[in-house]
Amino acid sequence: MGSKLAPIQVGPVTIQDPVILAPMSGVTDTPFRRLVKRAGAGLVVSEMIASQAMIRATRESEKKIDPNAQEGVLSVQLAGCEPEVMAEAAKLCVDRGASIIDINFGCPVKKVVNGYAGSALMKDEPLAGRILDAVVKAVSVPVTLKMRKGWDERNLNAPRLAKIAEECGIRMITVHGRTRNQMYNGVADWAFIRQVKDAVSLPVIANGDIVDFPDVTRCLEESGADGVMIGRGTYGRPWFINQVIQMLRTGMAPAEPTLVEQRDLVLEHYDAILEHYGTDAGLKIGRKHIAWYSKGLPGSAEYRAKVNTIEKAELVQDFVRGWYQDLLDRGIVGRDLSGRGLTAEAGCDVEDDDTAGEKKVAA
Ligand SMILES: Cc1cc2nc3c(=O)[nH]c(=O)nc-3n(C[C@H](O)[C@H](O)[C@H](O)COP(=O)(O)O)c2cc1C
Repeated sequence: MGSKLAPIQVGPVTIQDPVILAPMSGVTDTPFRRLVKRAGAGLVVSEMIASQAMIRATRESEKKIDPNAQEGVLSVQLAGCEPEVMAEAAKLCVDRGASIIDINFGCPVKKVVNGYAGSALMKDEPLAGRILDAVVKAVSVPVTLKMRKGWDERNLNAPRLAKIAEECGIRMITVHGRTRNQMYNGVADWAFIRQVKDAVSLPVIANGDIVDFPDVTRCLEESGADGVMIGRGTYGRPWFINQVIQMLRTGMAPAEPTLVEQRDLVLEHYDAILEHYGTDAGLKIGRKHIAWYSKGLPGSAEYRAKVNTIEKAELVQDFVRGWYQDLLDRGIVGRDLSGRGLTAEAGCDVEDDDTAGEKKVAA
């Protein structure tokens, strides 16, 4: 089943197994990245941070990079549309421990593209080039780029932009195989990514719609990419990236964690969320993760509905513990993940920012 991946060199950083956790606002926060990293991911990327917010050191932006998180190599993603501001923000991220800066040319949500950031930059190649150039020159760490196929089906300029990026000194490119106008609709076009791979001699990472092992193999075959990036496929499965790595190394699909291990992980994740955000915010942020961990287990819809009504963190913990114990007592051994669909839900979340020309990106 597997096709072994070679390590990737991104400047001084070696990505031993190029299976990468995608940046996802509101999802790949410090608690989640830490679990995915500990399970053995090749690389994890932070939620996107607006360059203006980084410079103004908003609480939200500071929370997204925790210098004490011990995540090892961390790629921090920046969004913005002003070269000098992006460059300044990149320097601050490096000061706070970023080992790689990733630039976002992929986010499709209105609040970001109307500020002329995210995928809107794919429409303005000269400005895109100036941003890449400014950031590469500003920092000593490698700079990478994440983008889509293009703005729409008539403007599929990812291969051209990849060449511009290579000339600017970008060290790795990730392509989500959709256009901006597709948002999260339709299916990711892995074969298109081969055009980007053929256009540059940089490592190219394929992204979009990978949820199981056959997807990984097919995506790599169709795209010819050097690695894969996985986002929504990790919802409620922080171990999935590591399973993909094992599958690629050995050709065998690894077993799912036992239900006891899954229960312990949900509770550990929930504790980390409460600690990171505080009890009030953590209570709300924790709900979606608890829900994702329960997908495919019997009675999960009722369980999720109930969790959403509990207003005290300790009661949530008791309820979660009791629910898993009941499943274990009934002899349930695991989840049925067949037929699991992908939803974009929040997409790249943003918070409002009145700073000219740019929107601040939120937790
Ligand atoms: C909730 C959510 C938040 C996202 N936030 C970001 C982001 O901050 N930066 C970014 O480049 N892409 C973001 N994306 C896009 C993902 O990184 C990824 O490109 C996309 O989800 C396709 O991959 P997947 O099918 O494996 O999820 C987000 C996607 C989702 C669903």
